[in-house]
Amino acid sequence: MKYLFPENFWWGSACSALQTEGESQQGGKSATTWDAWYASQPWRFHQQIGPQETSTFYRHWRQDIALLKQLNHNSFRTSLSWSRLIPDGTGEVNPQAVAFYNAVIDELLAQGITPFITLFHFDMPMVMQEKGGWENREVVQAFARYAQVCFDLFGDRVQHWFTFNEPIVPVEGGYLYDFHYPNVVDFKRAATVAYHTVLAHASAVRTFRAGHYSGEIGIVLNLTPSYPRSQHPMDLQAANYADLLFNRSFLDPVLRGEYPPELVALLKEYDQLPACQPDDITLIGEGVIDLLGINYYQPRRVKCRDSAVNPQAPFMPEWLFDYYEMPGRKMNPYRGWEIYEPGIYDILTNLRENYGNPRCFISENGMGVENEQRFIENGQINDSYRIEFVSEHLKWLHKGISEGCQCLGYHMWTFIDNWSWCNAYKNRYGFVQLDLETQQRIVKKSGEWFANTAALNGFIQD
Ligand code: BG6
Repeated sequence: MKYLFPENFWWGSACSALQTEGESQQGGKSATTWDAWYASQPWRFHQQIGPQETSTFYRHWRQDIALLKQLNHNSFRTSLSWSRLIPDGTGEVNPQAVAFYNAVIDELLAQGITPFITLFHFDMPMVMQEKGGWENREVVQAFARYAQVCFDLFGDRVQHWFTFNEPIVPVEGGYLYDFHYPNVVDFKRAATVAYHTVLAHASAVRTFRAGHYSGEIGIVLNLTPSYPRSQHPMDLQAANYADLLFNRSFLDPVLRGEYPPELVALLKEYDQLPACQPDDITLIGEGVIDLLGINYYQPRRVKCRDSAVNPQAPFMPEWLFDYYEMPGRKMNPYRGWEIYEPGIYDILTNLRENYGNPRCFISENGMGVENEQRFIENGQINDSYRIEFVSEHLKWLHKGISEGCQCLGYHMWTFIDNWSWCNAYKNRYGFVQLDLETQQRIVKKSGEWFANTAALNGFIQD
């Protein structure tokens, strides 16, 4: 079988500022919540490795861009760091940051690689978190101003902007499940953070359109299709709740310009609605995007709850469903995530059938594996499992496109092994192996496979 992709298909990968740059408090940069959290609780991070050095992109960007070229990338997504560009969050722009990002963008373009730029990838400046982070509407204003600074500085060359990467993750991690700072467990505060993030997104889109910058603006969402255990009405309802909370809470505002009434009714029923202001509806309506980035890693399987909830316990999403382990599911045991390739097709089909078939691309997909050293053959990691992972997902993506989905590209997470938040360097995702001691970069087998696939605009397989 030949899996050929449409002309000008985007082949590339994604990464983020904090996870790759290093120099997390040099070059005029201020601390993010990650720097502050690491300083106070280093034991929360795998092997106590923090964000200070990560993958040294700040120092090795030229060499890394040469590697992107070698991997036949025609596009590459990274993020700008708010705390590097505007260290106090709201005031002066840091000239060292401007010089760095200019150099990176110019070099990408010189190598024929289109830069895709995210404005916020989990890295809240600590100064803004001290003001309450996304719980405070002042931070929403400050974000819109930061966005404008970025459009003004780089908008002559950057034509693909993304306001947020996976905006639901800081909500889940910081305000429900304790894997991001500020480690709060409180649904109403989580809902406020999610709501204000949507407002921040829409404010940036409004700023972009008002400024008549060229190019397009979108958002990157991690979509986790919700599969019910059975067709029993209670299991279907459980899947619908999970979908409303984890997918449609961002998908509907950015594609339809409004929240699903069912979600609003649900939060109202449990007294969890955030405070709204009258002009918010207009603003949210203006946040409809030009391009959707889809991060897909795993499905979400649910069933109706087996037991009653404790009404004294804090309200949590799991009041509305239980997780379900499908017998025979395929797992990535290192990350603990199910691998389910058809999920990518189901997401695209849902977008085509229910959201007017928006322009989109796969902005992340990937497989984190522990101790890849054991797969070294002749000095190179032979990560055949990653080649299989990518090609199996690409087959389902190809099917989606052949049925009319407007999926314009495939970006892998990630180009080079990088720092995975609390998991630090436990699981490696890169096409390129990073030796943490020497900073040596060696292309893995999957990197070579990807370079060929990108060059041929597809691959041949049974
Ligand atoms: C996505 C994020 O959630 O998945 C990345 O955009 C992240 O920042 C990646 O690193 C892989 O997940 P993790 O938690 O294993 O790093």
